[in-house]
Amino acid sequence: MNYDKDYQEAHSNPKSFWAKQANAIPWFKKPSTILSRDNNGIDRWFADGEMNTAFLALDTHVLNGRGEETALIYDSPVTGKKRQYTFSELTEVVARFAGALSRQGVAKGDCVVIYMPMIPEAAIAMLACARIGAVHSVVFGGFAAHELAIRIDDVSPKALITASCGIEVDRVIPYKPIINDALVMAEQTPEICIVYQREEQPCELIPGQDISWESALQNAEPADCVPVKATDPLYVLYTSGTTGKPKGVVRDNGGHAVAMRYSMASLYDMQPGDVFWAASDVGWVVGHSYIVYAPLISGCTTVFYEGKPVRTPDAGAFWRICEEYGVKGLFAAPTAFRAVRKEDPGCALAKQYDLSKLQTIFMAGERLDPPTYDWVVEHLQKPVVDHWWQTETGWAIAGNHVGYGMAKTKAGSVTRPSPGYHVDILDPTGKGVSAGEQGSIAIRLPLPPGCLPTIWGNHQRFIDGYLSTFKGYYVSGDGGFIDNDGYLFVQGRTDDIINVAGHRLSTGEMEEVVAGHNAVAECAVIGRHCDLKGEEPIGLVLLKDGVKINDSDLERELIQRVRDSIGAVASFKHAVVVQRLPKTRSGKILRKVLRSIANGEEYQTPSTIDDPACLVEIEAIFKEKGLRE
Ligand code: COA
Ligand code: AMP
Repeated sequence: MNYDKDYQEAHSNPKSFWAKQANAIPWFKKPSTILSRDNNGIDRWFADGEMNTAFLALDTHVLNGRGEETALIYDSPVTGKKRQYTFSELTEVVARFAGALSRQGVAKGDCVVIYMPMIPEAAIAMLACARIGAVHSVVFGGFAAHELAIRIDDVSPKALITASCGIEVDRVIPYKPIINDALVMAEQTPEICIVYQREEQPCELIPGQDISWESALQNAEPADCVPVKATDPLYVLYTSGTTGKPKGVVRDNGGHAVAMRYSMASLYDMQPGDVFWAASDVGWVVGHSYIVYAPLISGCTTVFYEGKPVRTPDAGAFWRICEEYGVKGLFAAPTAFRAVRKEDPGCALAKQYDLSKLQTIFMAGERLDPPTYDWVVEHLQKPVVDHWWQTETGWAIAGNHVGYGMAKTKAGSVTRPSPGYHVDILDPTGKGVSAGEQGSIAIRLPLPPGCLPTIWGNHQRFIDGYLSTFKGYYVSGDGGFIDNDGYLFVQGRTDDIINVAGHRLSTGEMEEVVAGHNAVAECAVIGRHCDLKGEEPIGLVLLKDGVKINDSDLERELIQRVRDSIGAVASFKHAVVVQRLPKTRSGKILRKVLRSIANGEEYQTPSTIDDPACLVEIEAIFKEKGLRE
């Protein structure tokens, strides 16, 4: 395999390049149309191909005589449980649960919401949906009832699959009250709610609404894999946009499967039988792509870890897992390594484990800061690969493609674009800039297989948000530059999305929640640098005239409000009262300058500002609150 050759071919002859990659998966009906346009005028891959993603992930390996090899390893330090499934076992339970879903009336094309912790049943539920051609929408367990309700309303699910609880280190999080609240808030309620009872804390079921996982399975006949079109949706995964309403990223079956298979080999250098561990959660895109689908489609063993990098029980958790299961590729967010470094600065715990099988460490989800990169390389003496992607793309837009042979690394760079992605840096008018110059990172159309073809139920939002800024391009929302050697440097979002502990969050959404408080006239939420989580949100609030409320009471109430509405995962811990917010003369809040103040950076007073004095005032408040050095 040669990166330059493949990159060129994918660029100059995408149809032939992707037709070759498509040969790596067993189709029910091989596609003869490789690239075409759908009714919306969007490029689609393999339109006349037919297949089934669960078949690719499971049955095919059994049929190829690999049924007794390990497909999934569940390791849960928070419950003390460990369990392994072979491909045969996983195929059997998935087929039975798929049968159970069919018996509940779930059919091809129906949506199913999955709200589950990191237990194997989450993967079983996802694969069972794929098996019968139902469209799953997994909601991260750290989101509150309101967020869950928004997603339920957007997909109108036929069924909801959940568990009785999640476990955060030593804290049991009962899921049922969250589900019940969400179902009260939602208008498009599912016909049935299937609840996996965990012995750590079972819950009460509501007759007529809920049934237990066990009873759903009773006498269920295994369901066959239903052939779907390559362009049929496999899942909808919601991600933060700049407004309060999350966007339902749609993933198709065929393009996704081809991209998963290709990226596992080319980027992660994983072959059938290798053990891959993405230390994330099925609620995020990393979990969809690299905990569930890509490893299984590639015949690898995947690790399903219910724990944290630290405190479950210590900062050696990652190394224990790597030794115990012979992990070859480890993928996590930089924040996880920062958490480990904080607890074990000399990385002494890693030295207690045999990490000889660990070949490469992959990081993504947020910017990989050079100190974290250096610390991991110094202490583990393993290659570290930074790669950049988004929920929308489903796989890496750029990275160091280990499967082609590792390229030279450059500090702060995500290396080079993946074959199939033509990345350009554009100025605000859409003109390409010179090497080294900063601009918007945009991908020239067509996007490669696996990337989103639309936003669920709102195609116009796809056009407006991604395709209409620069003609012929998908705009990523990230800014950066490409150097003379073609290396890409990603410098951060150009919109109001922040990245907290590798979790993508919308400050606009937090603003809506904060502004809903009775005492608040106006507010701005901005991201501030955080040594552990990369960024953390801070709210600046302006009180309504005449409102009397103690600042710390208000802060407590606002923190709780965000926690109740969005979830603990928002990590909203600071709200400060200000007298004025910096605005342009036309009334737009100048968030960029607020970010500079919060980060202790030099800033220039914008010429468009209405009231320059308020910046000095805000700076003083930040200093007084210890929010700025
Ligand atoms: N269910 C319920 N609550 C959850 C949750 C879940 N699945 N995931 C997180 N939370 C809660 C946490 O308990 C925490 O609550 P608290 O404010 O009461 O303490 C809050 O949400 C914030 O979580 P987080 O930002 O993850 O902080 P943390 O202190 O629990 O852990 C890290 C810090 C760095 C260890 C952790 O964020 C981590 O492992 N990050 C990796 C990120 C990742 O996998 N990203 C996916 C993209 S690759
Ligand atoms: P998500 O959709 O949750 O995967 O978040 C995608 C966003 O995370 C991107 O648009 C980037 O802003 C950020 N991101 C992901 N990976 C990287 C990376 N390797 N370097 C810098 N930013 C990243």
